[in-house]
Amino acid sequence: MTIKELVETLTLDEKIALTIGPGSWHINGVPSKGIKEVCITDGPHGVRKAKDTRLSSSLNENETSVCFPPACLSACSWNEDMLYREGQAIGEECLKYSVSIVLGPGVNIKRSPLGGRNFEYFSEDPVLASAMASAWIKGVESTGTGTSLKHFAANNQEKKRMSSNSIIDERTLREIYLKAFERAVKEASPATLMCAYNRVNGVYASQNEFLLTKVLRNEWKYPGFVMTDWGATSDHAKGIKAGIDLEMPGPNEYSREEILKALEDGSLSMEDLNRSVERILEFLLKAERQETKECSFDRHHEISGEVAADSFVLLENDGTLPLDRKERILVVGAFAQTPRYQGAGSSRINSYKVTSLVSELKNLGYSVEYSQGYNLSGTENEELADEAVEKTENADIIVFVTGLPGSYESEGFDRTDLKIPAAYDKLAYRLIATGKKVVAVIYAGGVTEMPWRNDVSSLLYCYLGGEGVSEAVALTLSGAVNPSGHLAETFPLKCEDNPCFGLFATESENVEYREGCFVGYRYYETFNIPVAYPFGYGRSYTSFDVSDTDFFLDGDSIIVSYRIKNTGSFAGSQVMQVYTGMPDSLNPRPVKELKAFRKTFLNPGESRKERIMIPVDELRIWSDGWKLENGVYLVHLAFNAHEDAASGSVELKGEKIELPNPYKSGIRISEKEYALLFSDMKIPRTDSAGCITVDSPVNEVLALDEGKKMFGPIYEQLYASVQGDDDYSVMTRAMLEDAPLRALFSFAHLDKKLLVEKLSELNKQL
Ligand code: BGC
Repeated sequence: MTIKELVETLTLDEKIALTIGPGSWHINGVPSKGIKEVCITDGPHGVRKAKDTRLSSSLNENETSVCFPPACLSACSWNEDMLYREGQAIGEECLKYSVSIVLGPGVNIKRSPLGGRNFEYFSEDPVLASAMASAWIKGVESTGTGTSLKHFAANNQEKKRMSSNSIIDERTLREIYLKAFERAVKEASPATLMCAYNRVNGVYASQNEFLLTKVLRNEWKYPGFVMTDWGATSDHAKGIKAGIDLEMPGPNEYSREEILKALEDGSLSMEDLNRSVERILEFLLKAERQETKECSFDRHHEISGEVAADSFVLLENDGTLPLDRKERILVVGAFAQTPRYQGAGSSRINSYKVTSLVSELKNLGYSVEYSQGYNLSGTENEELADEAVEKTENADIIVFVTGLPGSYESEGFDRTDLKIPAAYDKLAYRLIATGKKVVAVIYAGGVTEMPWRNDVSSLLYCYLGGEGVSEAVALTLSGAVNPSGHLAETFPLKCEDNPCFGLFATESENVEYREGCFVGYRYYETFNIPVAYPFGYGRSYTSFDVSDTDFFLDGDSIIVSYRIKNTGSFAGSQVMQVYTGMPDSLNPRPVKELKAFRKTFLNPGESRKERIMIPVDELRIWSDGWKLENGVYLVHLAFNAHEDAASGSVELKGEKIELPNPYKSGIRISEKEYALLFSDMKIPRTDSAGCITVDSPVNEVLALDEGKKMFGPIYEQLYASVQGDDDYSVMTRAMLEDAPLRALFSFAHLDKKLLVEKLSELNKQL
């Protein structure tokens, strides 16, 4: 029987049940046909399976699994093999726990370094993000486990994350924010996608026909199904019509009724519903072939450490690293005993095994003293700092492990600056003032300002390293592993330099992407803004020489060839990056855009000839379709976005394209200039004035006397229930105020029907 025929045999109730989850962590099956329900759990950097998958979200009681490095670090590997191996290991753990879909990877672009969830995303660049995501997806899916590419789309901030409206012109959307999804969908075809919470150009991602049908299905030919993010549904019938297939979590009696009503009034057709049912059934039937299998956590723990060690970025080094075993080492910082190695929120793993840097360095034969130096919360503690400074007397080298406390970044809220706690920086200066060599090791989920960065001997940026972090850092400091990570995002000199500064996470629900395509290095390079460390930057214990470069056109491809030689004394890898630009373009185009990269491992003295191929199609820009601009293009073979090894040029025959250019006098554009980016000159803002709906933000409703009377007690009760310091409480508190009313009801486990009744009463009073 074909799937279409199977669908014909289902009752209407069975069909609707397939499109709404029965709880948080399952997808319904069809018992009458012997089709089993399946279990889905969070990722992306490990399997976060609830001990009791029937209970609704408790973020802390999970099965044990291996915590791999979050995307903020693994992206710095620029190594698809590593991401594949990580994915494969995660897929194997899914088989152990009978999990059919792991929810990840996240390919949202890091528009601002302040994004609270940046640790879960790969990069500010869509080519790098999609390469990493595709490798990970292929790894997971090689085991028969499904993935869910998220959050589709333009989910780039946590502030008002369930109600914000990402306003993006189509060119920017296509070239930057959809690009990573497009490439991952086409290259790795993940089993599912997850939509975003936010609106995109005025329409919720959960019912956005442009995204879900026009682009994803009709243009990209995506065959799988799309689920909502947890609680992203505003109107499920409208969602299905637009191209959503599954509402998560459920159950939701109100959505069932909405579908029935829509079928009756004709706003939803049976074909629309059947289409979603078919896509979900197709997956369920495939999932039946999945078998439960044991796996080795010890082996996965090793892989986790290998990914981390391949990703750490060496930002500074005067030769102090690798550490000499003859030196007496003082390790300072609570993170050296209790590493911070993953972020907070839905991705939090109940890790298998975590060790400390102090013990790992001792295991490698170093003579190590330890001093805590600061407390994990980031507050001042003179006594701890004094003790650390005193202990430096007997040391030759200080390894200072610092970074961001866990409470500084999380899913659910954004950061307000890029600073490391003042108490930690103060200690950094005191350690530097001793005159001893200081090696700084940083644990943070994103970019930080390190005002002392030029005063330390070495600086190793470790982001969040997964559970194998301590072993990996010790091996790197010792020189057993040569750091070969490269930044997947720019480190600006100061937060204010960021092109979307002032436009990001404001109090308005309308989020204006006025900087257009000039995201991250595309902006800094084009507008000549100096940065602390450029995108793609990373040093090594060894040195590399690039020679015999050639740049030419071969049919429909640009070929870049070169010889790379390890000219130093350590074995190691180098990532060469290819950027293109068009200096004489008639259009506002970034001067450099990453098109491809290659990581090459070489022993000392060894050299290799490499050849990178870039399809000319990759140089097209969006102008009512993908078009190739006529002219001469520069091709950069580069060590990072700012520094070339060599460059060449190719002439391409395309067409004349002339888009409006609002950026003639800089990145801070006016209302009128911004409007130029939209074909009808209308900026698609939302206007929450008027009657109160299920989507109205809780804080706006509570500001009304009548609203407060009606919803205040529910809000207060819920708020009081999340007063703890645990991740879930902190995140929920941050989200509650800005959340839409429907989310308030769903957090409080109240029926949406009750909300709709209350609203009709409230609107009568207004
Ligand atoms: C997050 C998703 C996650 C889901 C399930 C949502 O709040 O945005 O990334 O997969 O919860 O935990």
